[in-house]
Amino acid sequence: MTRKVTKAIFPVAGMGTRFLPATKAVPKEILTLVDRPLIQYAIDEARAAGITEFIFVTSRGKSALEDYFDVAPELETSLADRGKEELLATLKSTNMESGAIAYIRQHRALGLGHAVWCARRLVGDEPFAVILPDDVIDAETPCLRQMVDAYEETGGNMVAAMEVPDEATSAYGILDAEPNGRCVSVRGMVEKPKAGTAPSNLAVIGRYILDPAVMRHLDSIKSGSGGEIQLTDAIAREIGGGNVHGYCFEGTRFDCGSKGGFLRATVAFGLARPELREELASFLRETVANGNA
Ligand code: UTP
Repeated sequence: MTRKVTKAIFPVAGMGTRFLPATKAVPKEILTLVDRPLIQYAIDEARAAGITEFIFVTSRGKSALEDYFDVAPELETSLADRGKEELLATLKSTNMESGAIAYIRQHRALGLGHAVWCARRLVGDEPFAVILPDDVIDAETPCLRQMVDAYEETGGNMVAAMEVPDEATSAYGILDAEPNGRCVSVRGMVEKPKAGTAPSNLAVIGRYILDPAVMRHLDSIKSGSGGEIQLTDAIAREIGGGNVHGYCFEGTRFDCGSKGGFLRATVAFGLARPELREELASFLRETVANGNA
């Protein structure tokens, strides 16, 4: 029987240079899609998958993230006094239970693998999820929920995968696996392959369910490496014996770590809001009709 996944790591210690100057003062994960910061989408997805312990790997300048999950008593009282019940409920839905959330510092940005490794003591000897909040996935069943359900059958390690066009493979970790239904067995993984050399079109994106053995691999990679520590290298050590699976999720992924992806997500999530849909759609239609798009 596979063990239940109750812990998730949110690596948020990156520098977010693609969003400078905004990220000079505001963490990338606080940037807002319509009216909710990216991190809220990630937390909601984790909760829907049964996660009860939330581990943030942060860095200097990210205190807005810690404040975001705190109770805001003055704001709550003021909304209650003014009878703003709906807003109050929205605000309260962002509060986290005391003890459910932990913050660990990554003192130097040594890569995603290193950020995950920083949480090793909090994870202990349990399987854990990793969520990159800048990958926002719009899906009927939230992506991590889909993966947890599939993981109950497979165990081992699971990475979220999606098909990308040939010309995009060099920007991702690519799986060596036969595209065959939603859950594929992985034979190999290549980080950012050179054009024309990718073993498939299945790209790894920011959702993982990992065995604690991956932490031990990160340990040994860390001691032998001077530079960036890649998470994919540690997962690749688990391949063999059918121990790594790619899960081709149902849904649309937006790369909110890039400006283009963030703008697309803003349009898609805006159009999905009944109160904004008409105004936004007619603006987009006019813009296109006027030849500005
Ligand atoms: P990115 O590659 O998007 O880097 O990291 P970044 O620093 O966030 O953004 P740019 O490229 O400078 O604009 C992918 C994820 O890994 C985390 C980031 O916070 C993001 O969630 N990360 C990356 C860390 O936590 N630590 C690192 O050392 C590197």
